[in-house]
Amino acid sequence: MVCRKSFKSTLLAAILAIVLLSACAPDPSMQLISPSMVVLGEGEVFVPPTPTPRPRIAVLTDEEIYAGLPETLSSLMPGDADVGEALTVPHGCTGCHQLDNSLVEIAPTWLEVADTAVGRARQTGEAGPAQYLYTSITNPDSFVVSGYNSGEMPQTFSDDMDAQDLAHLLTYLLSLRAEVAVEVE
Ligand code: HEC
Repeated sequence: MVCRKSFKSTLLAAILAIVLLSACAPDPSMQLISPSMVVLGEGEVFVPPTPTPRPRIAVLTDEEIYAGLPETLSSLMPGDADVGEALTVPHGCTGCHQLDNSLVEIAPTWLEVADTAVGRARQTGEAGPAQYLYTSITNPDSFVVSGYNSGEMPQTFSDDMDAQDLAHLLTYLLSLRAEVAVEVE
């Protein structure tokens, strides 16, 4: 009978499936750990490293942001970010610096450069992110970002721009920040 036959073959298929599945089942005594991971001893617990949070400018006060700027400049802060952005074109900044994080061959990215500046200021001993950015523009070789060479960034911006232009430019760069604030010690 057709009906009986199909029942038999279904049963056979089911048995075959069970046999196959049990053959593929993982051996419970095997260590479920990838070769790149540290094999732990008996009773040891794997604690993944805590990623260091990136410092964010959003948690700083204006005073902390502008700390260390020359008086002529700090008295003009904040400038106009839109004017500052417009200045980056004739001065050639955007020919090297991009807001795209993947375009970093010529110069460091400006994506969240205000946040970057908070970390770099701590590294270089500058008083705050504005002072770090100011020094990067007016005296680029005083700190050379790792992966780049000294002398690559033009050294002439301190002569080409007056304090007002610099205030606008700094205000623009300080606006390039992540939206979410993360509190960092
Ligand atoms: C010819 C390419 C070039 C031009 C034009 C240029 N830069 Fe740069 N800039 C670089 C390079 C390369 C570095 C990294 C080396 C260093 O630290 O000096 C850099 C570094 C910087 C940094 C530090 C970035 C960081 O991640 O710490 C800032 C800020 C900066 N530039 C701002 C500017 C501004 C503002 C202008 C325009 C007024 C400008 N740059 C024009 C090539 C350029």
